[in-house]
Amino acid sequence: MEGQEKQVTGYLLFSLGTAVIGSLQFGYNTGVINAPEQQLRSFFNNTWMERYGEPISPGVCTVVWSVAVAIFSVGGMVGSFSVGVMANRFGRRRSMFLVNCLAVIGGLLMGFSTICSSYEMVIAGRLVIGLFCGLFTGLTPMYVGEVSPTPLRGAFGTLHQLGVVVGILIAQIFGLEALLGSAKMWPLLLALTVAPAVLQCILLPFCPESPRFLLINLKQEEQARKALVRLRGSEDVSKDLQEMKEESAKMAMEKKVNIPELFRSASYRQPLLIAVMLQLSQQLSGINAVFYYSTGIFKTAGVKQPIYATIGAGIVNTIFTVVSLFLVEKAGRRTLHLLGLGGMAISAVLMTISLLLKDIPAMSYMAIIAVMLFVAMFELGPGPIPWFIVAELFSQGPRPAAMAVAGCCNWTANFLVGMSFPKLVEWCGPWVFLIFTGFLIFFFIFTFIKVPETKGKTFDEIAQSFGGGMPPTSSAEDPPASASASAAKPLPASQVK
Ligand code: GLC
Repeated sequence: MEGQEKQVTGYLLFSLGTAVIGSLQFGYNTGVINAPEQQLRSFFNNTWMERYGEPISPGVCTVVWSVAVAIFSVGGMVGSFSVGVMANRFGRRRSMFLVNCLAVIGGLLMGFSTICSSYEMVIAGRLVIGLFCGLFTGLTPMYVGEVSPTPLRGAFGTLHQLGVVVGILIAQIFGLEALLGSAKMWPLLLALTVAPAVLQCILLPFCPESPRFLLINLKQEEQARKALVRLRGSEDVSKDLQEMKEESAKMAMEKKVNIPELFRSASYRQPLLIAVMLQLSQQLSGINAVFYYSTGIFKTAGVKQPIYATIGAGIVNTIFTVVSLFLVEKAGRRTLHLLGLGGMAISAVLMTISLLLKDIPAMSYMAIIAVMLFVAMFELGPGPIPWFIVAELFSQGPRPAAMAVAGCCNWTANFLVGMSFPKLVEWCGPWVFLIFTGFLIFFFIFTFIKVPETKGKTFDEIAQSFGGGMPPTSSAEDPPASASASAAKPLPASQVK
């Protein structure tokens, strides 16, 4: 695919932008719950008083609060797991459209919770919003991967993460007490997620269905061609069509792949292992320990204005996602992922040192620098890459099922880190980040040995590099695309190790 031009049209950017509203929603709802913690706690207390005539006990209040936070990830697990069924049944575009109903339901539940004096509505709303976000963490990367031209698939794949980080930043800023984080305004802060959902529903009808879905799943070649012509801005889309047809012809042999089949078939074992491990490397790096609890970490390290350091981390987060967007097609996925994991491991050690020596005043600066570096390194690779590489590692047949499994692993690990971090801090004190250092080193070694470079290869070439029974190309430089394609002739699944 080296010769393929990088066709970027306004229409392609419009379609990508529309899909990425889903990523923005995921980021917003991840970040939004931190700031209004005290407001929500007093709302729980007021409701309790109204109902039972006595204040809520601190223990019960903490339970209700933790459930409201964590149930989001439970919804995410279920949502991400359902993505395959939906994407195949309704198509990518219609699925995105339908899923927005959940944002409206969830947003309204939370927005009207104070009027109805019901904290249960906050919890139910968070669950529904989690479902919604779980579905989008599969749908957006899938759609983006399928409509992007091969030479830019990585750069555009990073847009999902860019949407996420911008969403987190918006939530951090809107959550300031002077804006929407106040006792009166927090229901609006939580309900605001309805607005982008409505906007996306207005824009989606103007976007094309994924041409791959049209051609490979629905066999509508003419429709697929039309969509491609508009996306690429050129009448000559024969290269793209040819590539999809080849993939389609192979798929005719494998048929649709559901989740049990994905686990059974030996030819998917290797890419599935890589997809799952990359998702785990993203979450077990400890990134959300920082995003959920950074204000507390900064306070412990002696930082005077922790809220602003947190927003600073959000800004660094956004800047480095943009850096990754520009680097990913040059440096490649594998290199950036390795660099990110290694850099995070070093930052986690620096963070530990700053927490251990917190009595030395200058250490609070070191804590800020270490957190910023940790976040920056995350966004170079471990942030964006796992989300889009799953769509790259699988061809059209198994892709939705693989995205579902990988997404569900991501959400489960996210939930575990989010739930266990406060306890781990109690047990390990300032040493806590060394746990993540251990994971980071493990995933660094795994990536070094197992993860192939996918930059510039077509979906089919990538699938063949696994399906041919060859070890993935773990050398730093990927071989010419044509060589890898011809060297690895596909074998029937039964013959593959
Ligand atoms: C990734 C993670 C998400 C995290 C975010 C931080 O998208 O999946 O859990 O909060 O990055 O930027």
